[in-house]
Amino acid sequence: MSTNSKLTEPIIRVTDVSKVFGRQKEQALKLREAGQSKYEVEQATKTTVAIYNAHFEVKKGETFVLIGLSGSGKSTLLRCLNGLVEPTEGTVYLENTDISHMPKRQLQEVRRNKIGMVFQNVGLLPNRTVIDNITFGLEIQGVSANEREKRGKKALEMVGLNGQAYKRIYELSGGMQQRVGLARALASEQEILLMDEPFSALDPLIRRDMQKLFLDIQGEVQKTVIFVTHDLDEALTLGHRAAVMKDGEIVQLGTAEDILSQPATDYVKLLVQDVNYGKIRLAKDAVVPVETAAYEYESPQVVLRRMRTNHLSTIFVLDSADRLLGLMSIYT
Ligand SMILES: Nc1ncnc2c1ncn2[C@@H]1O[C@H](COP(=O)(O)OP(=O)(O)O)[C@@H](O)[C@H]1O
Ligand SMILES: [Mg+2]
Repeated sequence: MSTNSKLTEPIIRVTDVSKVFGRQKEQALKLREAGQSKYEVEQATKTTVAIYNAHFEVKKGETFVLIGLSGSGKSTLLRCLNGLVEPTEGTVYLENTDISHMPKRQLQEVRRNKIGMVFQNVGLLPNRTVIDNITFGLEIQGVSANEREKRGKKALEMVGLNGQAYKRIYELSGGMQQRVGLARALASEQEILLMDEPFSALDPLIRRDMQKLFLDIQGEVQKTVIFVTHDLDEALTLGHRAAVMKDGEIVQLGTAEDILSQPATDYVKLLVQDVNYGKIRLAKDAVVPVETAAYEYESPQVVLRRMRTNHLSTIFVLDSADRLLGLMSIYT
């Protein structure tokens, strides 16, 4: 995870949101409140409490992750944030405006101008050019052709596809198409982006690439992103903070360090066990090359930048004779 000093203002506030699917909504919530599990309530009422009592804030410029197993309520909660799902209880505020019970037409405006959504399958138009695909959303929003071209090219540069602007989508490899999808999302007009498992279907190598690319671009554009994943590694890599969901409830909310060092429940402990330990079998596999160390005479800004580039939260600090002085962490 990375730090960002601008992360102070809340842009989205979710207060005590519950979402119930089924007929016996009140009864289901009552039973849930009395301590019955989501499953027990389903058995008793044929009604699903998909989200129970969620509250959190997302700050401007933050990448906020919702993480949990399939069925834990991530997509439902995400869809509450742009009004695609109306909460049964509670309120979602977007910059202090209640958007959870807004008329449809007004919501469409909000989605067009403020809060965009990226789906798992990229949904590019195969017969249009790369640049057309990237700027399609901008065209709908009435951004001028000049400006569209400028932004489109900038986005392509960010994803390393400069030369491909006038190729058609079907001419590109799968990995390149993914890049175009990401460029389109991040070049969009909206300040807030909802991303529902955008990389989950990708094979691990391309996925790693896309995660790196996401960090690079997000470092530059600094949108507010709410990112859904079932992969804790991905959550910890991409997010400033993450909310861990289980059976419709947020069981822990915090930074990578919070979650890894102090898992709040046995469930989080189980999730955390797989991180690193599963992937890194020997300490030597986790060693970061020495060129990513820092020297005591370097300015903190320079060191932080190097840490960001290399996706490190901690770095060794050496004196001019390469002796180890200690560690520098983004959290200090
Ligand atoms: N439209 C719906 N009607 C009924 N139940 C739903 C609907 N959407 C989601 N659910 C239920 O809500 C719970 C959360 O689902 P979802 O938000 O899709 O979870 P996730 O995205 O974490 O896999 C699940 O139990 C799911 O079956
Ligand atoms: Mg989902």
